[in-house]
Amino acid sequence: MGINGEFFSAIIPAAGSGDRLGQSIPKSLVVINGKTLIQRAVESILPHVDEVIIAAPKDFELEISGLFSDNKKIKVISGGEVRSKSVAAALSQVNQNADYILVHDAARCFATQAQTIRVIDALLAGDHAVVPGIEVVDTIKVIDANNFAESTPSRSSLRAVQTPQGFSARILHRAHQSGNDATDDAALVEALGIAVRVVPGEPNAHKITTPADLEWAKRLAETNE
Ligand code: CTP
Ligand code: MG
Repeated sequence: MGINGEFFSAIIPAAGSGDRLGQSIPKSLVVINGKTLIQRAVESILPHVDEVIIAAPKDFELEISGLFSDNKKIKVISGGEVRSKSVAAALSQVNQNADYILVHDAARCFATQAQTIRVIDALLAGDHAVVPGIEVVDTIKVIDANNFAESTPSRSSLRAVQTPQGFSARILHRAHQSGNDATDDAALVEALGIAVRVVPGEPNAHKITTPADLEWAKRLAETNE
């Protein structure tokens, strides 16, 4: 058993194709300064959890499990067509005794262990759903179907949310019972009417999506490693 006698599981959705990155291999297998995104994402979580379930792109399961063959805490499964389906597939493999489950995008491979710890600490303090978030620098507008601005939410009330996101296990299971798709798991939890705590995030937990993000990531790794 892990922290405070509680069993922590982690799910890493890594099954996306990375269309916007435009590489010939899935995004989670792209190498930055000698290490793949999936290896980096695992490193920020593994020391703090009892098991990790990775949702791998179809036909890349063996390649990914080969990266972690010496670690018994890590299990690799096949992901789904959309992110929520990948998380749901991994969720079906989570240890039944899990008390808490973290969900961490492989694409946010520079999130630090400190970020993982902030999420875990909030769960242990009693929150049932926790997401890291950072302030937004842009003014954000809500638009209608014809591209006219409908409203301008106050920037101070907005946060750009990241991963790892943490949940009480039974709540994440309930959230995924709907079978709905969402870009993050907290949205499915909010739909149940459950409070989602936002703790401080970190700029480097930025999601690698575009070629410009990859250039940023390479510079970051070369500077820090
Ligand atoms: N993901 C997944 N299964 C999918 C789609 C996405 O596990 N069917 C994962 C990605 O691997 C990534 C995270 O969800 O770690 C966030 O998704 P995103 O950044 O959109 O990655 P991709 O879907 O791979 O990129 P794109 O949308 O550009 O194709
Ligand atoms: Mg995607």
